[in-house]
Amino acid sequence: MDNRTFDREAMRITVDYNNMMQETLGARGLTAEELKALPLEAAAKAMHEKRGQMKWRELPHNQDEIVAEIETVAKDVRERFDNFVVLGIGGSALGPIAVQQALSHLHYNDLPKEKRNGPRLFVEDNVDPERMNALLDVIDVRKTCFNVITKSGSTSETMSQLLIITDLLHKTLGDDISTHLIATTDHVKGNLIKIAKRENLTTFYVPDGVGGRFSELCPVGLLAAAVCGIDIRMLLAGAAYMDEITQNDNVFENPAYLMAALQVAAMKRGANIHVLMPYADSLKYIADWYAQLWAESLGKRVGNDGSEIYAGQTPVKSLGVTDQHSQVQLYTEGPFDKVVTFLSVDRYRKTMPIPDGYMDIPDVSFLCGHTQNELIAAEETATEYAVMKSGHMNYAIRLPEVNAFTIGELLYMFEIQTAFAGELLSLNAFDQPGVEEGKKATYALLGKPGFAEKKAELDAAPAKLSAYIVK
Ligand code: PA5
Repeated sequence: MDNRTFDREAMRITVDYNNMMQETLGARGLTAEELKALPLEAAAKAMHEKRGQMKWRELPHNQDEIVAEIETVAKDVRERFDNFVVLGIGGSALGPIAVQQALSHLHYNDLPKEKRNGPRLFVEDNVDPERMNALLDVIDVRKTCFNVITKSGSTSETMSQLLIITDLLHKTLGDDISTHLIATTDHVKGNLIKIAKRENLTTFYVPDGVGGRFSELCPVGLLAAAVCGIDIRMLLAGAAYMDEITQNDNVFENPAYLMAALQVAAMKRGANIHVLMPYADSLKYIADWYAQLWAESLGKRVGNDGSEIYAGQTPVKSLGVTDQHSQVQLYTEGPFDKVVTFLSVDRYRKTMPIPDGYMDIPDVSFLCGHTQNELIAAEETATEYAVMKSGHMNYAIRLPEVNAFTIGELLYMFEIQTAFAGELLSLNAFDQPGVEEGKKATYALLGKPGFAEKKAELDAAPAKLSAYIVK
């Protein structure tokens, strides 16, 4: 795709929210008045005023030099290695996974080398010892480039992976491991920058003011994508386009603001669950990435004024049509405590015709002559209808097709939606104090210096009662 001649309008994402509204859904639907009663103007004003603090909003515009550098490093990695392994967790992993699934072949790692656009990609976002062992069973470290990513430079999970990999690399390569390891981190804070300097590593930086879950469109996500041959300039062009679209202060003409308003109004009606249901395997991990964005940004005990609000809406990941056979029963007949967001694709990148066969069995042969494209589209329309008919709120985000441009649009739209929802709920969408407690307790349990007090606190916690443990 050529960004200069590209028809952006044809790639514009649309949001159809008919099935959220009373005209379609009846009494369980929202009214325009309910939406207008939200502090829309104040939230839109705050989005302008706080733009300077939300540095992630500039990523589509201010990375020309860094993109060129990423492309150079990516080319070198493609030439020298069979595998590219990302070590990271949370916002340092979910974006790379989502973008790879969306924009590379669905069985990318299984393709023969000559049919892939780069080395195999592994994103190791856990510290399960079986998984690390399994990874080491399938890669040859001599032919593997590792990219350790941590914004804070201090995340224990990522550091444990780094220790394992640097040990292995030193044993295999000797003193100089800089040929096989790239760091992505903050330019001053944390321990990774110290290690990167000591090991003389190629280093990319997470810009100031770009938090983990908002960092996919900086080197955190762009390097892995470029290594796998994804057009990262198009990804950023799509995000820039969505930035233009979402400048509109009229909530009813701004898809990101509108989706935030719909969710917040639905939350006021008790819909505290948000199901994101892509109808495309390529978008399956977008739902994972979104779950972190929505949960960690909006799940907050305290609001901006210091009062306890216990806000948030639980994200649920679902996949159409697969989960029609597992979750949709609940979505049509269960409680009215959720909003289902369908994520649909107008044109799939491939067509799969359903051939003739068993023509004497009408319950099978009605499928013949159709395509799987028609089938998945019909199933989505049918499920939207069934969820609507049962009085459950739902809306649809429609992508003309899945490509680097529309994925850039989509990621940026979700980020703006989340930030705007934070304003509507009057909370800080950019911190994660609730994650800290567990982190500190882990440090204390493993004897990290400075956490003796926390260890004493854990030791003083009520002992588990054997009466409540079933054998
Ligand atoms: O959104 C966030 O800030 C977090 O979820 C982080 O992405 C996650 O904790 C990993 O942090 P780091 O990149 O500092 O290792």
